[in-house]
Amino acid sequence: MSGDGPGPGEPQRAILQPPREHLQPPRAVPLRPRPLPDDASAAARAFAEAMATRRSVREFSSRPVARETIEACVAAAATAPSGANKQPWSFVVVGDPELKREIRIAAELEERMFYEQRANDEWLADLGLLGTSPSKPFIEDAPWVVVLFKKMRDDRSERISDQVYYVNESVGIAAGLFIAAVHQAGLATLTHTPSPMQFLGRILRRPDYERPYLLLPVGYPADGCMVPDIRRRPLHEVLFFDR
Ligand SMILES: Cc1cc2nc3c(=O)[nH]c(=O)nc-3n(C[C@H](O)[C@H](O)[C@H](O)COP(=O)(O)O)c2cc1C
Repeated sequence: MSGDGPGPGEPQRAILQPPREHLQPPRAVPLRPRPLPDDASAAARAFAEAMATRRSVREFSSRPVARETIEACVAAAATAPSGANKQPWSFVVVGDPELKREIRIAAELEERMFYEQRANDEWLADLGLLGTSPSKPFIEDAPWVVVLFKKMRDDRSERISDQVYYVNESVGIAAGLFIAAVHQAGLATLTHTPSPMQFLGRILRRPDYERPYLLLPVGYPADGCMVPDIRRRPLHEVLFFDR
């Protein structure tokens, strides 16, 4: 076949095939062995019980948390699977009080507009059960504020292409691992989404292909911390086997 289009009788997909000369042969290594629990069910139940005590916290103590602890939580998060192994995330950890204050002021500005103008009545009714408001003191009170960004292009020096795939799914899984790691360390966090969040990229001077995904204050709960009285769905409502 010559020229741009398929010849007579050739399948249409021929013109959709990208050039393949750049493809590299896959390389494989043996799966790293790891110690197995004696009782898989018991191990899974123990993890579920530990995670059942996790709650989103909106009142933080100023008790310090070591930088190494946050680093280890991010290291756990960064093991997440990702579309085509693109690992399209950046965890920006903010401990500087001035910077936290700047973020709080900008977040509260957006949140005031959200509560007063952008949110519809249903949304406000759903949030009413949680007792949230435009006031975000936890951004300053928590010793660390972790801002998770999603990368809309691959910027690694060893990349084969610039494209990224399933970015929301990948970054969501990394966020889940981060939240689990924070809980495992005996700390608390809040999955916060000041809406909209573009100010975070500006304040933290991130490249334009990074988009803010979540803001997660991390620390110890304040003494006497209260949380909304809410219920988790029972297993039979969320778990289905076969059809
Ligand atoms: C994607 C996402 C966004 C959220 N955004 C906010 C937020 O902006 N402010 C807030 O106070 N809580 C926020 N939350 C926390 C939820 O309200 C909380 O997870 C839910 O009420 C369940 O409570 P629990 O985390 O204590 O189990 C968010 C949670 C998720 C998963």
